[in-house]
Amino acid sequence: MSNTFLKSVIDFTKNVKTTGALYQTSKQIEKEICSKINAETKIIVEFGTGLGNITKRILDQMPADGKLYSFEVKAEFLEDVKDLIQDDRLVLINDGAQNFEKYVTEEVDCFISSIPVTLIPKEIVKSVIQKSYDALKNGNYFCQVLYSPFHKKKFSAVFEEVKIEKAASVPIGFIHHCRKIATR
Ligand SMILES: C[S@@+](CC[C@H](N)C(=O)[O-])C[C@H]1O[C@@H](n2cnc3c(N)ncnc32)[C@H](O)[C@@H]1O
Repeated sequence: MSNTFLKSVIDFTKNVKTTGALYQTSKQIEKEICSKINAETKIIVEFGTGLGNITKRILDQMPADGKLYSFEVKAEFLEDVKDLIQDDRLVLINDGAQNFEKYVTEEVDCFISSIPVTLIPKEIVKSVIQKSYDALKNGNYFCQVLYSPFHKKKFSAVFEEVKIEKAASVPIGFIHHCRKIATR
């Protein structure tokens, strides 16, 4: 582990107000949040790259001809991710999830989000969820990890199906698998 990377790990846990995290995600959370990714999920959008833990797992599971757009507000995290992950399928974007449609013009096969929705203003969260629903392919998933199951309504107000899976890890993660099942 390089000194720069170690510094970023320390920054990550120090910046709780932005990261919403005392810890980086665990392997169990990574596995569960990526469980909807398969050979058909070619266009993927990630919100909250952090230090790239989930990003790596997404790349491992997605098809060779896929594309992953990953959004992160803290530029210094992205600098480390650029050193750690070299993959032509990955597009790193230093901007907020709320602006994703400026960069992503394709129909999206899957959203993977670990942004701290409980710390971000409600109107922004509402808009991110609605815009993600609109950009998502019908029948597909928006997956969000949270530390509690108490915010389900934010997602079920927009998505027709929301199922919560618990990853028994430290920290405990509640993965919200939100499915778009539009009938018209
Ligand atoms: C809980 S951390 C998760 C990081 C990483 N995915 C992991 O697995 O360890 C949340 C990340 O979201 C970033 N973030 C916060 N608000 C954001 C926003 N509006 N758009 C994109 N990223 C955001 C934080 O800077 C932080 O890196």
